[in-house]
Amino acid sequence: MPKTFENITNIVLEAADKARKEIDADKISSYVSAPVEWPVECTVGPGLEGAIACETKIGYVSGKQGNLVYRGYNIFDLCAHSTYEEVAYLLLHGNLPNAERLSEFKSKLAEFRYLPKTLRLLMGFPLEDMNAMAALRMGTNLMRQHQTERDLMQAKVDRTKVISSDDDSVDTHEKVRGEQRAVYEFRDPKANRPARRKAKRDLQQAKGVESCYHLIAGVSTLTAAIARIQRGSLPIEPDPELGHAANLLYMMTGKRPTREAERVMDIALILHADHGMNASTFAAMVVASTLSDIYFSIGSGIAALNGPLHGGANEEVLKTLREIADPKRVDGWYASARKNRRKIMGFGHRVYKAYDPRARVLAPLADYLVNKSGDAEAKNLLKIASGLETRVVADLGASKGIFPNVDFYSGLMYSSMGIPSEMFTPIFAVSRVAGWTARVLEYMKSNRIFRPRATYVGEISRGFTPLADR
Ligand code: CMC
Repeated sequence: MPKTFENITNIVLEAADKARKEIDADKISSYVSAPVEWPVECTVGPGLEGAIACETKIGYVSGKQGNLVYRGYNIFDLCAHSTYEEVAYLLLHGNLPNAERLSEFKSKLAEFRYLPKTLRLLMGFPLEDMNAMAALRMGTNLMRQHQTERDLMQAKVDRTKVISSDDDSVDTHEKVRGEQRAVYEFRDPKANRPARRKAKRDLQQAKGVESCYHLIAGVSTLTAAIARIQRGSLPIEPDPELGHAANLLYMMTGKRPTREAERVMDIALILHADHGMNASTFAAMVVASTLSDIYFSIGSGIAALNGPLHGGANEEVLKTLREIADPKRVDGWYASARKNRRKIMGFGHRVYKAYDPRARVLAPLADYLVNKSGDAEAKNLLKIASGLETRVVADLGASKGIFPNVDFYSGLMYSSMGIPSEMFTPIFAVSRVAGWTARVLEYMKSNRIFRPRATYVGEISRGFTPLADR
């Protein structure tokens, strides 16, 4: 690692060291490597808690120990020694890329980061008045245009319904057909065949890995463009010389980031890239399982991620810290939150009943960046965050296994990098799109439509009452 990254890498290594002392890796290997004997009996709770949706080789979350593994590699090692591009490739393909594969993958991402047509379409909407996640979801829908076989089939012109080019006028009693349907005979009908064939080969439904690359690159371009448009600026073209994390920062701010900022963003992207059967991953997989397509799947992932119980929590955390406003008010605020049975954003997790390993890395990074920035407000918020963590963990850590999660410190970190809070969740999506696409691809290899049951507890034989008698 170049010297400029050393500070950041050391922070990750220290966090990893601390975590390793508490995590019993041998114990984790013993229960992961134990062969699964089907059928498996498990208890299923509300919210499908405990239900098994599929088998996977992509990632493993140890809730008891607070450990996270992508394709066999520990998250701490990946943060310390790899880049987001390597991790995205690993998630999609199962192995870390060698130099040649990595270079090919990076070139593909560089190519797919250009979305001129999608951006032109997106800018036709009032993005400045929209929620950034809604805009991002719409953007992925616009990226989809003509990228799937189904779109191409629908785009085929029905020649029986077109206005013939040798008619120089259309009788007024005839129904005038829209321009879209006009076919000009001087145009070579074979002209768009290669593109069509390529689209079919590369992007057909959820099968083409290139559509995954397209989305991984495109979600970052869209996020950066939305950030700029919402603040009254025009989108900036990607810089082909920059990597994924640096390009995201560059396209958002218009300035090439420092090597340190790039490395911090890279680590944040690595940490958020995949996380088991979380709600947004499952949403993406459910949509894919109907043989819809990868663009719709990722749009569903974005929609699910937006909620404050999921990725939307990072933005909510900052609101909470601002609401508390003063480190001296933490105890009073917490007492009242507990009395009102209020959920404290950035704490708790369905799986982790120990410290979230991602928060172990993000907490010291936020601390480093906030203190380096010298920003008094950020320092104050950090103090509040640290006080709140102490308070929550003392009360709910041992009794309910509630600790800070990935969203608790990420917002503080992003805001100390000058990123506006409405972009925190879209940045989560920029990263998670790797996990979403990898898991959809994996599931599609042995796809079966998702269709759980609900236990019917309603009435069963009511007599029908005519409208007039109700
Ligand atoms: N603050 C206070 N109490 C909590 C919290 C919290 N943040 N989280 C869970 N609890 C309590 C909850 O009240 C319940 O208590 P009781 O058994 O007395 O009713 C118990 O812990 C179990 O909670 P739950 O809501 O049933 O747990 P869940 O597995 O359904 O939900 C969760 C998990 C993440 C939605 C929840 O912990 C939560 O709402 N946290 C706050 C939102 C948040 O930070 N979300 C980000 C999650 S991590 C990243 C991501 O997925 O995007």
